[in-house]
Amino acid sequence: MRALLTKVEQDSRLDRAGDRLQKVVLGTLRPRRLRDLLHGVTLGHPLHPAMVQVPVGAWISAAVLDLMPGQRRPATVLVGLGTASALPAAIAGLNDWAALARDQRRVGLVHAAANTVGMTLYAGSLAARLSGRHGMGRALGFLGLSTVSLGAYIGGHLAYKQGAQVNQSISELHRMTDGWHSLADMATLPQRTLITREVDDDISVILYRHGDEVTVMLERCPHQSGPLGEGEVQEIDGHACVVCPWHGSAFRLNGGEVVQGPSGNDQQILPTRIQNGVLQTRLP
Ligand code: FES
Repeated sequence: MRALLTKVEQDSRLDRAGDRLQKVVLGTLRPRRLRDLLHGVTLGHPLHPAMVQVPVGAWISAAVLDLMPGQRRPATVLVGLGTASALPAAIAGLNDWAALARDQRRVGLVHAAANTVGMTLYAGSLAARLSGRHGMGRALGFLGLSTVSLGAYIGGHLAYKQGAQVNQSISELHRMTDGWHSLADMATLPQRTLITREVDDDISVILYRHGDEVTVMLERCPHQSGPLGEGEVQEIDGHACVVCPWHGSAFRLNGGEVVQGPSGNDQQILPTRIQNGVLQTRLP
């Protein structure tokens, strides 16, 4: 299975269908606020993995009830709940998928295809149960559960092996040594300008001074590792934010909260102090 998914990552034949679907998703989910909501910007965490708990929980519970006598009605209700809640979860997933790298989109396409087949089987299961064909409904339900389980496995590969929608920058903290690190002389630090500095020689951070306050933030974008130091500072909802040059995620400079996707994760701010006129930072 691992070897097969590695082949899928590299299979450019999937790109034609993927590129078409990406255009449809981007053309359909146009309002930025809707896209941000689906990315999980308001939560500070990706929304799709949280949303899939509802259909998966309902479908697994229905499968357990299907194995018990006299539970047709609650099993039918749970299959209906799972099928209805799968659609918004799928839309959130497609929204995340459209902003992934190409190799991730290939695997994401197969993940989406498996789950679409699973959802179709569950829709058939629901229709069969509602028309009194409970044996057929159960059979389609078990087939659906097998298919969405395969989809979940592929989704696990996408998230944990390929790093889709996980925080790409936080591992920088694990490489940073303890103690305070000097970054810049306050006397020479310009106002309202993004400056890039390195900690421990290879961990990039950005500095942004506003009056006597200085923000120090990891430079690597949590979405796909874009260079925030090459981004722009924009005022969004009354707050100065750094906007990633790659896909437009924006993070508040006075707290690191994500205010604009596709990142669903906040950015890490580092503590600061001034020692003898020198700005220093350390691990949080
Ligand atoms: S890398 Fe995608 S928004 Fe920054």
